[in-house]
Formats: sequence, C-alpha cells, structure tokens
Amino acid sequence: MSPKTILVTGAAGAIGRASVGELARRGFGIVVADLNLEACRAVARHITSGGGIARAVELDVTDADSIDAAVAATVELGEFNGVVNCAGVVHLGGIADVSHEIWTRVTSINLTGTFAVCRAAVPHLAAPGGTIVNVASTSGRTASTLTSPAYVASKAGVIGLTMTLAKELAPRGIRVNAVAPGIIDTAMVDSLGADRQDDLIEGIPFGRKGTAKEVASTIAFLATGDSSYVTGQTIAVNGGTFIS
Ligand code: NAI
Repeated sequence: MSPKTILVTGAAGAIGRASVGELARRGFGIVVADLNLEACRAVARHITSGGGIARAVELDVTDADSIDAAVAATVELGEFNGVVNCAGVVHLGGIADVSHEIWTRVTSINLTGTFAVCRAAVPHLAAPGGTIVNVASTSGRTASTLTSPAYVASKAGVIGLTMTLAKELAPRGIRVNAVAPGIIDTAMVDSLGADRQDDLIEGIPFGRKGTAKEVASTIAFLATGDSSYVTGQTIAVNGGTFIS
C-alpha cells in the first residue's frame, strides 16, 4: 500500500529536520526538500535507515519549476496528504536596514514562497484529509524590534495567508494551520550572539528557549488527524512570551 506523504520545505534546517522526524515517526512518507540536496539526502538517509520512507529533493521556493518538481515527487511517493512550509530566512534590524533588495528577498522566500508551494500543492492534496502547516513566527503576531520589518511583514502575511486558505479549502476537507515559534534553540537564534540571547531569555516566562522538537511536535499535531476539527489557527510555541 502506498504511504500517506508529506512535503516538508526547509527540511534541512533545524525545525524542518525535527518535523521530518516527528512525521516519519507517525508513519508518513516524507519528501525532504531544501536548497541543498546533499543536506536533504542526509536527512532522508537518517529516516530510511530507521525504517521510514523518505525521498530527498532539491527545492528553491522562489522557483516555480522547482516547486512543481517537489510536488510531483510527493505525488509519486504516495497519497499526497500534507505540506509543511518551514523554508525561511531571518532578517534583523530596523527600517533603515531593509533595502529594497532585502525586502524582496525576505518576502519572496518567507511569504511568496509559502504561497507558491501552497498554490502548487492544493490541486494534488487529498480532499478530504489534506493538511497544510505554515511556519510563521511570534514576530508576525506582535511588534518586534529584534526582527526587521521585512521579516515581521512576511510572517504576518503567512498568518493571513493561512486564515484565508483555511476558509477557502474547509469545504473540501483540507485544513490549513500555522505555528508561531518564539525563541527556539537553533542556529538562527545562535546567530544573535550570547548576550542578546540572555536578554531574550529573560523575557520568556518559561525561562528558556524552546526546542526544535517542541515546534515539530506541534506541527505534527496540526498535520495529522489529531487536530481534525482545527483549521485557520496559528498556534504559538513560545513559552508564554506572547499570549493573545
Ligand atoms: P534554519 O535556517 O535552520 O532553516 C531554514 C531552512 O530554509 C534552511 O535549511 C534553508 O536552506 C531553507 N531555505 C532558505 N531559503 C530557501 C529557499 N529559497 N528554498 C528552499 N529552502 C530555503 O531555520 P529554522 O530555525 O529551522 O527555521 C525554520 C522556520 O521557522 C523559518 O521559517 C523561520 O523563520 C521560522 N522561525 C524560526 C524561529 C527560531 O527561533 N529558529 C522562530 C520563529 C520562526
């Protein structure tokens, strides 16, 4: 019998890799998609060596042909059941730090890339039963002077996209949700430096960074039937940093 398959973008990154692991553990076949094919192969090998089903593909979410190829690979692997959009880049600073070029790059990957993967996937997704999980950020829900206006706007856009797609696709039984991670123990956050991280951790009620696994298990909850009556929601995974 062919497996239920999920396309994970940004799958060579910290949260993507952890999501691949959580979803494979739940029996899904995974298409491991990211810019770096070698890194994707390593993630896929880890899954297959543990008895899971995974295929590595090179994906650039700013390139329509590349997206179509990743979607085709997911359809080929089994019954296309879900998409997890983890691909993203962070950008820090204020408005003066955001050149037009940076604005275009950050929004092209984080927002337009997420939209483009959804658009390509939806016609092929199982209906009913298909799921999309987008990765937003706490920065997309509340004012932030840490991440730049380009990053904040891109992640706020992801939340809006999630809500509108959820409404449109609900009658077909396709659910669309998002997670909004806070400060997660990843290379993205390490790049802020130790002093900056200490300041940030002081502002987290739980008193610690989150882990990629904690984000991934929330993604897995939203990607599976465990959340069968949930759509259009953005679930914060932030240790109480921002509660709305
Ligand atoms: P990461 O940098 O480890 O992973 C991001 C992945 O996206 C990388 O593997 C990168 O190659 C891939 N990527 C970048 N541009 C791409 C493109 N054009 N096409 C395909 N793949 C591309 O970052 P991390 O920490 O795993 O973050 C994953 C997502 O979570 C991102 O969307 C990020 O904005 C979001 N996030 C992360 C937080 C954190 O604390 N690490 C907090 C809030 C949100």
